[in-house]
Amino acid sequence: MQRIAVYPGSFDPVTNGHVDIVQRASKLFDRIVVAILHNPAKKTLFTIEERLEMLRESMQHIPGLSFDVFNGLLVQYVQDKGAHAILRGMRAVSDFEYEFQLALMNRKLNRDIETVFLMTGMRWFFTSSSIIKEAALFGGDITDMVPALVYRRLVAKFEALQKANPLRLTNQPDDNL
Ligand code: PNS
Repeated sequence: MQRIAVYPGSFDPVTNGHVDIVQRASKLFDRIVVAILHNPAKKTLFTIEERLEMLRESMQHIPGLSFDVFNGLLVQYVQDKGAHAILRGMRAVSDFEYEFQLALMNRKLNRDIETVFLMTGMRWFFTSSSIIKEAALFGGDITDMVPALVYRRLVAKFEALQKANPLRLTNQPDDNL
């Protein structure tokens, strides 16, 4: 039996922390499906297509991966993919409560699926997509926190937003986060 895991997330955008988790998990699983949640109700900085492309590029060196988009219940998607594990990264203690709730709910919904947590590498302890977006928005140096392509895309995205509406970024800083 193949050991298949699903690595779900928003990936808005993918960070070096995500890449590190998948790199290490690739030694534990035969296949990993990296799956972006498509939630039209949630405002994101990057489109699904942009996020998918950045994920593919950033993880192209890791064997055994496929990339996909899903909506609806995660456990249903995991089952449809023939997988038995949900892969999640755990950073600081602040992640714990949310991850604990998510894992318990998923276990209640389907007891055949296990959530597997990998601790984030020390280097990526304080790396999160939202913190990175905020730092990038205000010109902070985030070059060592995201893959090179993502860095270029973040800079281009904020430049385009700034050009389209110069006041927007100063008046409503987190409107596009
Ligand atoms: O990157 P994120 O935003 O932390 O990922 C959250 C994600 C996608 C794992 C979570 O929101 C999810 O699984 N959503 C799908 C709906 C679902 O099954 N929720 C959990 C049980 S209610």
